[in-house]
Amino acid sequence: MRCLLASMDGMSSAAFRSLCFEYGADGATTEMIGAAGVARSKGRRAPVMEALLLRRPEEGELAVQLLGNDPAIMAKAAARLEALGRFDRIEINMGCPARVAIRSGNGAALLRDPERCGEILRAVCGAVELPVRLKLRLGWDAEHITAPEIARMAEDAGVGEIILHGRTKAQMYAGPVDVEAMRRVRAAVSIPLYANGAVVRPGDAAEFARSVGVRGVCIGRAALKSPWIFDDIRALERGEPSRERGAAERVEVLLRFAARLCEQKPERYAVAEMRKYSLWFLEGLTGADALFERVKRAETLDEYRALHEGFLDGLVRANDTRVHPEMIRSNPLDTRPPRPGEAAG
Ligand SMILES: Cc1cc2nc3c(=O)[nH]c(=O)nc-3n(C[C@H](O)[C@H](O)[C@H](O)COP(=O)(O)O)c2cc1C
Repeated sequence: MRCLLASMDGMSSAAFRSLCFEYGADGATTEMIGAAGVARSKGRRAPVMEALLLRRPEEGELAVQLLGNDPAIMAKAAARLEALGRFDRIEINMGCPARVAIRSGNGAALLRDPERCGEILRAVCGAVELPVRLKLRLGWDAEHITAPEIARMAEDAGVGEIILHGRTKAQMYAGPVDVEAMRRVRAAVSIPLYANGAVVRPGDAAEFARSVGVRGVCIGRAALKSPWIFDDIRALERGEPSRERGAAERVEVLLRFAARLCEQKPERYAVAEMRKYSLWFLEGLTGADALFERVKRAETLDEYRALHEGFLDGLVRANDTRVHPEMIRSNPLDTRPPRPGEAAG
């Protein structure tokens, strides 16, 4: 089974993706990037866009994701990204439900206009040599399931594979995925399809893929809290139980992550961004709550590192390096930045 890391705005940075690749992800996608900005940019790009376009040496097969609704602009942007010679695929976003995307007719708004989707897909496929992947939701709402029609158009246009989030725009990120509707999309095309939206724990991946009738899954939120989920899924495939991730591994991954994030953005911002990962990765370890209170005040990588090393030393001395499942309180799919007191401790 192939397992991809999903595109997540504000989260799937090159630093984060590199961890997932090291844990065995078969592919990943950048955060979404506005096509208009890419099409406009010539030689010099704004630092924010430059950060979105980074690729680390540890990364494997990487797609770059474009958000837009104008076929000509999407085609121009895709050609620009191809010319960078840095990406293995172009991915087109037809699923983003955020108000700002919908208001401008982007992302999931396109699901209401299959004809326009077809134009975009044909324009992009015609503009690049790189394989093109489509990421889409089932439709606007339960009464308007347009994904089978759009998926067929994608295949006809030359799209090589599809990631299907099994929810409608109306569902946003909650509620059950509609496996029946996903199977209708599966039946409509013969190109590879990745099922997305129902992997919370490692054991869910094979069952989700089997129920939809596909050989691959795409994982978003679950990887944010456990990037080792890719390794755990592999272990299950081999018939082995998931390995317990103790404090030493969790701290080591965090510090590797923090060092890489500091290479791609100013140290103060990178350290601030790492706070939520400290809480997510360390939840269930004794004293994680107290550590988090101190991590909130850290401004440099050295401070961040020292706090975590001290935390780990304390756990080793107390012979208490295992995660206590009963102390995990956060919802595994909730990606709001954690608030104090929500942490286990
Ligand atoms: C914080 C966040 C940001 C996201 N940003 C994007 C994005 O930029 N492009 C995209 O195609 N999907 C985006 N998604 C959707 C995910 O790729 C994925 O389809 C969705 O979270 C369902 O998968 P999951 O249940 O495994 O998280 C985002 C999801 C989250 C939670």
